[in-house]
Amino acid sequence: MDYRGSTALVTGASGGIGAAFAEELAARGADVVLVARSAETLAALAARLHTDHGVRAEVVAADLTGPDAADTVYEEVARRGMRVDLLVNNAGFGSAGRFGEIPVGRSRTEITLDVTALVELTRAFLPDMAARGRGGVLNVASIAGFQPTPYMAVYGAAKAFVLSFSRALWAEYRGSGVRVTAVCPGPVRTGFADRLGTPPPYAGQFRSAPQVVRTALRAYERGRHTVTPGIVNAALGYGRLLPVRATLGLARYLTGRVVGDSASPELAAAPH
Ligand SMILES: NC(=O)c1ccc[n+]([C@@H]2O[C@H](COP(=O)([O-])OP(=O)(O)OC[C@H]3O[C@@H](n4cnc5c(N)ncnc54)[C@H](OP(=O)(O)O)[C@@H]3O)[C@@H](O)[C@H]2O)c1
Repeated sequence: MDYRGSTALVTGASGGIGAAFAEELAARGADVVLVARSAETLAALAARLHTDHGVRAEVVAADLTGPDAADTVYEEVARRGMRVDLLVNNAGFGSAGRFGEIPVGRSRTEITLDVTALVELTRAFLPDMAARGRGGVLNVASIAGFQPTPYMAVYGAAKAFVLSFSRALWAEYRGSGVRVTAVCPGPVRTGFADRLGTPPPYAGQFRSAPQVVRTALRAYERGRHTVTPGIVNAALGYGRLLPVRATLGLARYLTGRVVGDSASPELAAAPH
C-alpha cells in the first residue's frame, strides 16, 4: 500500500505503540495527525517526523475523555484542511487489581478512553471514508480481549468490546473500500505498565512497539479483521475454545499471580 499523499490520525501518539505508529506511517510517506494530552511531547515528535521524513505532521492536543472530544478533534482536523484516510485508535490504559478496590472514577475514565472515545472517533471519521470508498480504521485491542481477565476485569471487557466492534465494522464495510482491523498485542514495554497502578501482570510473548506496528499495518493492508503480533500471543487466542471455567481459572492464575490482592492506595493516585 502506498501511504504517500494520505493522512493518518494516531491517538495516543505521545509514546509507546502510538508513537511507533506515527513514526512508521511518516516513514512510509503519510502525513500524520498526532493526538494525545502531552502537547509538548507531540510537538517535538511532529517536528522530528517532518524533518526526518518530509511529511506534514500536525498536533491536536486533546484529552479524549473530555466531553465532545471526538467531534472537537474531527472539526480541528477539518479546520486545518486535512482529510483522514487512516484512523488509528490507539490511546488507552488499563487498571489492575481487585475490581472493588479500584476507584470507580478510574474505571469510568478507562471505559471512556478505551471504548467511548474509540467509538466516537470512528463514528466521526468513518462516514467520510465510506463516502470516498477508501480509507480505514485500525483499532488497538489486546490479547486481554480474547477472554475475561480477572484482576483486570474492566480492561479485558473494554478490549473485548474493541475486538467485537472492530469485527462487526469489518463485516459491515467489507467490499466498500473501507478497511477495519483490530490489532491485539500481547505484552509491549511502553508507558502502559507505569499507568496500571500495580506491577504489570504480563502474560504472553513480548514484542516491541515497532514490531506490533509493522504486523498491524501488514494485516490492515491485507484487509484482515484481526491480527495478533507474536505466535505465542496468537495461540493464547485459542484459549476461548476451552470451557469457560478452565479459561477463567487459567486467566485468574496468570493475572493473579502478579496482581493478586495488591490493589493498593497507590492505584488511586497512579497517573493514567
Ligand atoms: N503495552 C502493552 O503491553 C499493551 C498490550 C496490549 C495492548 N496495549 C494497548 O496499546 C495501546 C497503547 O498503549 P501503550 O502500551 O503504547 O501505552 P502508553 O505508552 O501508556 O501510551 C498510551 C497513550 O495514550 C495516551 N492517552 C492516555 N490517556 C489519554 C487521554 N485521556 N486522552 C488522549 N490520549 C491519552 C497517552 O498520551 P498522554 O498521556 O500524552 O495523553 C499515550 O500516548 C493502548 O490501547 C493499550 O491498551 C498495550
